Amino acid sequence: MSTPDSSSQPSLVQQSRDGDVLILTINNPPVNAFSVGVPEGLKAGLDAAAADDSVTAVVIIGGGRTFVAGADIRTFDLPREQSPDLRGTIEKLDAFTKPTVAAIHGTALGGGLELAMGCTYRVAVPGAQVGLPEVKLGVLPGAGGTQRLPRVVGAAKALDMMLSGNPIRATEASQLGLIDRLIDGDLLAGAVEFAREMADARPLPRISERSVPGATPDVFAAARQGIRKTHRGQLSPSLIVDLAEMAAAVPFQEGWDAEATKFMEAKDSPQSRGLRHIFFAERESAKIPGITKDTPTTEIKSAGIIGAGTMGGGIAMNFLNVGIPVTIVETQQEALDRGLSVIRRNYENTAKKGRMSMEDVEARMGLLTPTLDMGDLKDADIIIEAVFENMDVKKDIFTRLDGIAKPGAILASNTSTLDVNEIASVTSRPESVIGLHFFSPANVMKLLEIVRAEKTSDTVLATSMALAKRIKKVGVVVGVCDGFVGNRMVHRYGDEARQIVEEGARPEDVDASMNALGLPMGPFQMSDMAGLDIGYAIRQHQAKVAGQPKPDGWLDRIVETGRKGQKTQGGIYDYDETRRPIPNADMQKLIEDYRAEKGITPREITQEESTKRLAYSLVNEGAKILEEGIAQRAGDIDVIYIYGYGFPAYRGGPMQYASEQGLKNVVADLEKFGQTPAPLLKRLAEEGKTFAQYDAEKGRA
Ligand code: CAA
Repeated sequence: MSTPDSSSQPSLVQQSRDGDVLILTINNPPVNAFSVGVPEGLKAGLDAAAADDSVTAVVIIGGGRTFVAGADIRTFDLPREQSPDLRGTIEKLDAFTKPTVAAIHGTALGGGLELAMGCTYRVAVPGAQVGLPEVKLGVLPGAGGTQRLPRVVGAAKALDMMLSGNPIRATEASQLGLIDRLIDGDLLAGAVEFAREMADARPLPRISERSVPGATPDVFAAARQGIRKTHRGQLSPSLIVDLAEMAAAVPFQEGWDAEATKFMEAKDSPQSRGLRHIFFAERESAKIPGITKDTPTTEIKSAGIIGAGTMGGGIAMNFLNVGIPVTIVETQQEALDRGLSVIRRNYENTAKKGRMSMEDVEARMGLLTPTLDMGDLKDADIIIEAVFENMDVKKDIFTRLDGIAKPGAILASNTSTLDVNEIASVTSRPESVIGLHFFSPANVMKLLEIVRAEKTSDTVLATSMALAKRIKKVGVVVGVCDGFVGNRMVHRYGDEARQIVEEGARPEDVDASMNALGLPMGPFQMSDMAGLDIGYAIRQHQAKVAGQPKPDGWLDRIVETGRKGQKTQGGIYDYDETRRPIPNADMQKLIEDYRAEKGITPREITQEESTKRLAYSLVNEGAKILEEGIAQRAGDIDVIYIYGYGFPAYRGGPMQYASEQGLKNVVADLEKFGQTPAPLLKRLAEEGKTFAQYDAEKGRA
């Protein structure tokens, strides 16, 4: 229908004509981000339309899979004069005297939706999504979003969209007046038809000329109250509320100018750098050297899980949630029944909260086959062992699996610490064996450590990565070592936390020092939740293996009193019905007696020292892990800590946090605290580099 114009065009935006309508198609794969070249092309198109009397309207559409997915995040740190001129393009659209129509498919996010709101009209396919996700990158809509969205959808809905960052469907956007027409079928044809219908309508309904509906003071007060809970300690959400309030209170131009200033303030903050780092690190972590799109994968149509305990049950739910049938094996009927009833209860609780229907519960339970016979796993495409951490037990299971599983089936262990090479060695097919380390609660936590053993095949690895995505996990590939990446680092962190208490701090002060960094739980709150007996058993085991005397620290003594954490209603802390940790005087006395017995004179430890010692203990171990090649990138470690351990995303993960502090300062502090900095950390500090630079250089090598 439309005919391409043969004159020379900026390459990222193509002009074509459909009769009296000029079509501007943005082609900047994969997601049509607003990069340099896009504004130039759009402005040139608008100039052409203005100069040509035969053009009555303009349609802007995205080529490929989507409309514009936002400003190009990679250009955020460019000097202003080199940045793509999104605001200038939108100013030009707003002042344009012929109707402009944004035609949306895929996603119109951030700058993409702002561009669309700069147009006179918006049409979309029903499946499209629109949103302002900037808060997730620690910034705010910086091209008119904070001023235009409230004018269209009202103050409360705009705040909800901008503070959650979540997109809405075009169908909802159409009810809200954000989309003027839904188009079933050919989007471009529908958009052109709409543009033609509106060609003569005057005055042009510019969003900038409207007022903000529903802008009562209580709406902004409620938003401020809300973000204290949802975005504690973060800068951009409060700037968003301020700007939305301005949208209602001051002329458009004033709000538009203020938005530009606040955008720069947010963009230049460490929080935004941290969140942007994680955005890219998460996507990088999916890339594995040697594995390409052409690496063959196997299709996972069914799964087997050995062990119906907390972990096995949680893992099973991930598969059931995406429609993959699961056969779950236990040794005793009672344990099997208990496991099934826990899964059912979890689903029913979700249904009670209105997040799924009872039919969904039954459909998922219907995909689950309980059995006491491991032989029933013979047809499973993947089998995941989730029994307790004991090498002999695991070896026995894998020996039996080797005789049961069909050829090509993936044999996975959910071990959190054990040597996957050793587990694989008992099978005749070590290439099929891999570690899939889920984090508790396995149906909730997004992280999956994918442990590549020495002989794991590329197919098994690539299939596991694809599977992670399918079951909505963030999969990160790690190598074999004690504790892999996450737990190896957390063990070192736990040692440091206990040491800080030994020197004089109270457990609650140590926890508070990590809460201050933004972690929902400090080290002792976390170990009380996980069960103190787990760490105790590990310490005892490690000492035995190393031929050292039985560990006898203050925490070991607490465990020996029978207090194992939340599961025994008390550990380091007591707990009330709301599971709030309450310091226990007897435990405090136990710690004081311990120090006295060891001749330790307690000293005051500042919150700053505690935070640094704990965070840097993670960083130092992380640097060793990187050097050993157990993690491929510092960014992978950050992703692991954010999705598996509650490290705040706005700090960018421990490695990025260290880079923000300056690695030189980290090294100096580690030395001051009597710790030996890892050689890699020292080298980077001497070279004045960050971990992100290390990753980039390694990626290029
Ligand atoms: N800028 C630069 N690159 C981007 C990008 C952006 N806005 N959005 C996506 N990409 C890149 C990704 O990094 C990825 O690159 P690689 O293939 O090299 O890893 C590629 O595009 C594909 O992205 P995904 O793997 O995420 O693809 P998907 O199909 O799973 O998801 C998406 C697509 C929903 C658009 C998702 O990429 C996304 O949410 N992107 C971010 C959207 C966003 O936050 N926009 C707001 C930007 S800030 C802004 O606009 C500020 C302002 O107001 C001026």
